[in-house]
Amino acid sequence: MMIPFFDFSEVHRELGSRLTATFESVMSRGHLIMGQELEVFEDEFAKYCGAKYCVGVGNGLDALALALKARGIGSGDEVLVPSQTFIATWLAVSMVGATPIPVEIDPATYSIDPEKIAEKLSSRTAAIIPVHLYGLPANMGAIRQLADTNGLFVLEDAAQSHGAMFENKRCGSLGDAAAFSFYPTKNLGAMGDGGAVVTDDKSIAEKVRMLRNYGSRVKYVHEVVGGNTRLDELQAALLRQKLPLLDGWNAKRGAIAKRYSEGLATLDEIVLPTVPADRTHVFHLYVIRSKKRDALARSLQEQGIGSAVHYPIPPHLHGAFSDSGFAKGSLPIAETVALESLSLPMWPQMPLEFVDAVVDHIKQFYAKA
Ligand SMILES: Cc1ncc(COP(=O)(O)O)c(C=O)c1O
Repeated sequence: MMIPFFDFSEVHRELGSRLTATFESVMSRGHLIMGQELEVFEDEFAKYCGAKYCVGVGNGLDALALALKARGIGSGDEVLVPSQTFIATWLAVSMVGATPIPVEIDPATYSIDPEKIAEKLSSRTAAIIPVHLYGLPANMGAIRQLADTNGLFVLEDAAQSHGAMFENKRCGSLGDAAAFSFYPTKNLGAMGDGGAVVTDDKSIAEKVRMLRNYGSRVKYVHEVVGGNTRLDELQAALLRQKLPLLDGWNAKRGAIAKRYSEGLATLDEIVLPTVPADRTHVFHLYVIRSKKRDALARSLQEQGIGSAVHYPIPPHLHGAFSDSGFAKGSLPIAETVALESLSLPMWPQMPLEFVDAVVDHIKQFYAKA
């Protein structure tokens, strides 16, 4: 049985003629950038998140960077980031001229450990970026409290957590601003690149609106130095088709995750995802940890089962951050998690027989090992 790591085809089948109808409707209107589809999507997505404003941008990395810039964060500032995340979280901080300061993650939830934040605070700390990694919200209660006490801007990296909740509030409404990615494989994905900043703060929303469009509010009037990073009409229109299906897809991801966790529960050799009672997990990825990760991945591959590693190298060990002062061994939790993590096949329409086949194979692997 061939089981891919991810499969788009069922999403496209489910949307069917709506995809081509959307394409034709956008084409027939002939307005392809900054039009009505974007405005309506921004309104719908803000409401979905429980926030006042949404500003569509070109991708998740720009959403993070523009939110920081809109808050005035730049050269001389320090921004607390998790020690293990997709590198974009760190890159956004560097893009605005600030310095990313890693805080070790909690290996149970894979998000920044609130207990380790205090020791990293300095007079230059301006913000914190909790990442809701793999689809599980970070411990936003504790993070919010620390941020309020120390006057920090809280920017959620919600690139992997569309629809996930902390204490019954959705990601996107848990910090001062949030950055989303609509990269095609995300829980809410476009058919190309896309992203958004979501916030209750009018001044941040207005600044991001200018920064995404050459620093301009009125055509050919440029108030600040901005860039060009916009969510185009076609992507916005396609996202509008998908948004009403998001909760259903997330529920299916949850059912698949439950099946994996029940099937694998008897194996002491692997660490399964945990979901604290105050949060919901939208399982962008179903990630286990194993000391035999590479051998297990090879063995799955031999059986035609896809898997992936998110992420094999923690940010501080990339060439991009070689001058950050964090050498190998300096962030041991991130480094261990990077060595042991394995993402199993997951997409909303994945048949449960596929889940059972992956579980069976993992059990056989450990029976032989
Ligand atoms: C945690 C995290 N942050 C940021 C990003 C950046 O998003 P994008 O790929 O849209 O630039 C991603 C997506 O890949 C991500 O997973």
